[in-house]
Amino acid sequence: MVSPLYDQHGRPLEYLRLAVTDRCNLRCFYCMPEEGIKYMPKHELLSYEEMLRLTGLLATLGVRKVRLTGGEPFVRRDLVPFMERLAQLPGIDDISLTTNGVLTAPHVPALARLGVKAVNLSLDTLDRARFASITRRDELPKVMETFYALLDAGIQVKINAVVMDGQNIDDLVPLADLSRALPVDVRFIEEMPFNGGSHEAGPASLPWNHVRIRQHLEAHFGELTPVPMPAGATASDYSIAGHQGRVGIIAAYSRTFCGTCNRLRLTAEGGIKTCLYDQGVLDVRALLRGGKDDEQIVAALAAAFRFRAANGFEAERQRPLHQLSFESMATIGG
Ligand code: 5AD
Ligand code: SF4
Repeated sequence: MVSPLYDQHGRPLEYLRLAVTDRCNLRCFYCMPEEGIKYMPKHELLSYEEMLRLTGLLATLGVRKVRLTGGEPFVRRDLVPFMERLAQLPGIDDISLTTNGVLTAPHVPALARLGVKAVNLSLDTLDRARFASITRRDELPKVMETFYALLDAGIQVKINAVVMDGQNIDDLVPLADLSRALPVDVRFIEEMPFNGGSHEAGPASLPWNHVRIRQHLEAHFGELTPVPMPAGATASDYSIAGHQGRVGIIAAYSRTFCGTCNRLRLTAEGGIKTCLYDQGVLDVRALLRGGKDDEQIVAALAAAFRFRAANGFEAERQRPLHQLSFESMATIGG
């Protein structure tokens, strides 16, 4: 096993979140405007070859876990063959995926064959009309098909639900209740103002923060018992008496978890982010396409990781002033 690179705050590099595309077939209002975001022309996105090369190099620095994100990963053609090659890279022993589930069901057997153990399914409501209004597409039936296909295939399902004031608060209990009869985990994510707007007010102005989400769930389910989490986890998970799965809360905007963060993000156009809140700290696409050799690229990646900001607040302060409004999550990769 490779001994991982540590950053200047003592956090190891283990986990790569790879955005394979910035495109998406939904238009979740907290992520994108109705007309969509301005997508990158294809040649500006990294090719699968480039992603494989970079992931292989990152594996020599400690990365062993890769999560594919987007946009919606299945919108990119030939994703499954790409995953097969990714799984063969020396040092990569954990491949997972975050998907909105619209196109996923037919690929579930292939995911099982590949040894994908867990899939994160983005699902903010179980109500068809509300789903259509949040995502601006009437696709809940296809998402539920994926949900049941994953369960049938024995792939662990983690539901990610963004908690939105005035939108899906009535859905929190029904979503959490899925974990009672089914072995699924349900994670509630604080909404981040990442759809192009500014967010000068900061977490204090967030109507549904992690504390309130927990109180809301406890008012219905009784006490939530904290479950010990592995180092590097961003969710706080809880068990509920009588439930098979867990519920979790991700304080994505309050940023309570930065102290152990082990993630590196690669955006679809080849930018490295060492924090969800930074503006991109390295243009690896330029290095790849500028003919740099492996050693030079590894050195640049290592330097970018070593000098990470201490936490999401520091990363945010370091953004250039003109970039204080945030890009869509579809380009960041969640
Ligand atoms: N705030 C919180 N979560 C978000 N996601 C996308 N945009 C936001 C946002 N503004 C979530 C999606 C998905 C994951 C990739 O990121 O719902 O579960
Ligand atoms: Fe697509 Fe995910 Fe953004 Fe929704 S949140 S529009 S599913 S990338």
